[in-house]
Amino acid sequence: MDKIIINGGKKLKGEIKISGSKNSGLPILFAALLTDEPVTITNVPSLADIDTTVAFLNYIGKKAVKKGNTVKASPSEQYKHVAPYDLVRKMRASVLIMGPLLARLGKVDVSLPGGCAIGARPIDIHLEAFKKLGVEITVEGGFVKTHAKNGLIGADIEFRFPSVGATENIMLAAVLAKGKTRIINAAKEPEIVDLQDILNKMGAKVKGAGTKIITIEGVEKLHGATHKVIPDRIEAATYLIAAALTKGEVLLKSVVPEHIQIVIDKLEKAGMEIVSKKDTVFAKWVKELKPDNIATEVYPGFPTDVQAQWMALMSLTKGKSTITENVFENRFMHVAELQRFGANLAVSGNTVTVTGVEKLSGAPVMVSDLRAGAALVLAALCAEGESVVTRIYHLDRGYERLEKKLKQLGADIKRVR
Ligand code: EPU
Repeated sequence: MDKIIINGGKKLKGEIKISGSKNSGLPILFAALLTDEPVTITNVPSLADIDTTVAFLNYIGKKAVKKGNTVKASPSEQYKHVAPYDLVRKMRASVLIMGPLLARLGKVDVSLPGGCAIGARPIDIHLEAFKKLGVEITVEGGFVKTHAKNGLIGADIEFRFPSVGATENIMLAAVLAKGKTRIINAAKEPEIVDLQDILNKMGAKVKGAGTKIITIEGVEKLHGATHKVIPDRIEAATYLIAAALTKGEVLLKSVVPEHIQIVIDKLEKAGMEIVSKKDTVFAKWVKELKPDNIATEVYPGFPTDVQAQWMALMSLTKGKSTITENVFENRFMHVAELQRFGANLAVSGNTVTVTGVEKLSGAPVMVSDLRAGAALVLAALCAEGESVVTRIYHLDRGYERLEKKLKQLGADIKRVR
């Protein structure tokens, strides 16, 4: 298994281009199932989860090929309606197969995704919503079996929590349902707006993405489209924090600053100098950073996907801060590993109290999940001495050319087998 070796202490300096968003690219790839006409998606990041999804589409019967950062999906064969365990277990976003296949076939059997390192992550919100659209659901032999005998019928659906995946799944289904669907208490993340954009390019009638209520008028058929995936806001935030931790200066290109406004605001408050322009963000360390509390919330709140990286940053500020995780119930797997670098962290329920230390020291650490892994790499970049980061396949799921980009910024980092 590959590992990353980092010799910490190098100031990061330079510019990098932010890749296309993983969490936007995944639902958009699944949207290709909704039409038999060609769909071309550009700015698709080269990541393990994207490869898994492309393989999944091909398994289901949709011919899709990824070349560079472009995926072309062409007219399809008859779709299969069963998503087996081997495909679903690799990636939780596989449940997004449900919406498009219910829309096209009226049925789909999906292996239950199960829990993962960051929590139980049930899919009850998805399933309750599908029931409202007229879907019968049974659980048998580890599979969720779904069937819309009379086709999907539009309905008003109110989510108990604005789940990102459930919002996407219902949008993917309702675009071809009979009549009007309203998702109330929908997720407002930029990835939802991106999905609305491609669906509308395909001839769907979706409005309201980015607000609490999304309205979808079902149409008979969708057609082909070409779409460019939005920049990855979590990758962007991660590199800004890398600049802060290494006392460096970094120019990010191809970003939407507004998508990471809360992270920019927090970094500025901590003492970073930041200049945002239309599609660039420049961040420069100018003075010792001050601690600041964060609590993760749904968009536009502080992203749960940046919580671990923020913890690494706070570990080196003078004084105390708290980090509260409100989105996932078990997303502190990085705490024990950050402690190996010498971070002073105390967990109590869903809050970690960070007491800043003078320095971190290089250590062997193991990645438990994607964003925990990002936090460990960040800590290693500013720790004294060598760190060996193992189980980096988690990082390959979400950070395109991570060590190459960091090297371009001057980090002493290498991947070894
Ligand atoms: N939840 C339920 N029931 C459901 C669905 C969700 O209880 O039916 C709970 C989850 O267990 C979790 C919370 O609601 O505690 C949020 O889940 P949500 O459905 O919003 O998240 P997701 O769609 O599973 C996406 C991203 C995650 C990101 C979250 C929150 C993708 C592929 N994944 O997950 O990204 O953390 O939204 O913003 O879009 C990552 O990139 O590292 C990552 C984990």
